[in-house]
Amino acid sequence: MEATIVSDDLKHYPVLLKEIISVITPQHGGTFIDCTFGQGGYTKEILKYKNTKVISLDRDIENKNKANQIKEKFSERFYFKNSKFSELNNLKLKNENIKGIVFDLGFSFVQIKDPNKGLSFDSIGELNMRMGLNKFSADEVVNKLENKEIERILKYFGDETDAKLIARNIIKFRELKKIKTQDLVKIIEKSKRKKNFKVHSATKTFQALRIFVNKEISELIYGLINSAKILKKDGVLAVVTFNSLEDRIVKYFFKNLSEKKSVSRYEPEIKQKELSFLMPQKKPIIPSTKELKENQPSRSAKLRYLIKKEDTYEIETDIVEKFSDLLEIEDLGYKL
Ligand SMILES: C[S@@+](CC[C@H](N)C(=O)[O-])C[C@H]1O[C@@H](n2cnc3c(N)ncnc32)[C@H](O)[C@@H]1O
Repeated sequence: MEATIVSDDLKHYPVLLKEIISVITPQHGGTFIDCTFGQGGYTKEILKYKNTKVISLDRDIENKNKANQIKEKFSERFYFKNSKFSELNNLKLKNENIKGIVFDLGFSFVQIKDPNKGLSFDSIGELNMRMGLNKFSADEVVNKLENKEIERILKYFGDETDAKLIARNIIKFRELKKIKTQDLVKIIEKSKRKKNFKVHSATKTFQALRIFVNKEISELIYGLINSAKILKKDGVLAVVTFNSLEDRIVKYFFKNLSEKKSVSRYEPEIKQKELSFLMPQKKPIIPSTKELKENQPSRSAKLRYLIKKEDTYEIETDIVEKFSDLLEIEDLGYKL
């Protein structure tokens, strides 16, 4: 990949920052894991509290420069790893008192403005959409997978109602020539039966391809499972989501760990284990009117959090089975 051309004056605005800090309470000290370092907005804020240590991850190696700047200032209290958060369990954390794990999902403002990443529909050139540490790009998905496979990706990862037409037109077009980013935008615009003047026609397809290329469903599911395991007693798991698919997964997982299973009154009563997690708030926290005014991209952000009540590595969840249909679609990537 070529070097990033992003101007330094791009303003980075960490979403729901005050709210994140108020739920993870770094003033009590401990080790915190920032699973989505980005420009280090959350990490820097946590490090302002003296007895904290932060371990940050990001799959995008280009964020390492920012991490190096923070390392200069907080040498012993800050560590950065270019890694995917689904691999959280590979970190050596045995002696860490992990009191908070945060996720700010998706891509950053800097990444979407990077023409080489091709995350935006204004991008020119080959399709890409890789955030880092990927096996394949959107170029291979669009130019190699079969009609029905592309249709499933667009339908289930983008909730695209015209998935069938778009997939069919992708196949037709690529018989003539390889599809690049602007070709795809035109194919989508031609295929959409109803125009929505508020949202760009390519939004859903681009979201779907980005989720597929970055395996965002399995990343999130295994990131959540591993986080719940490694948190210590009274530790908080806080997740900011930006689309309904992510939010559905987080909401299910948090309920799954914090609520007893409902049993029909006609079935024999079974003794259920005490729950190790507590979800203090059922409704998500959303940005304030002030933040919405200052930071437009925060409009779809939702913060949910979960508190661990006891030290245990064992967790009981059926989240993998629950979302097996989506994980199966992601597995189509093995063909590429
Ligand atoms: C919305 S930004 C985070 C911004 C950050 N909270 C801040 O204040 O600067 C999301 C970041 O997470 C990273 N990311 C996305 N998926 C990831 C994954 N599965 N593993 C590790 N990092 C990931 C992206 O590369 C991006 O830099």
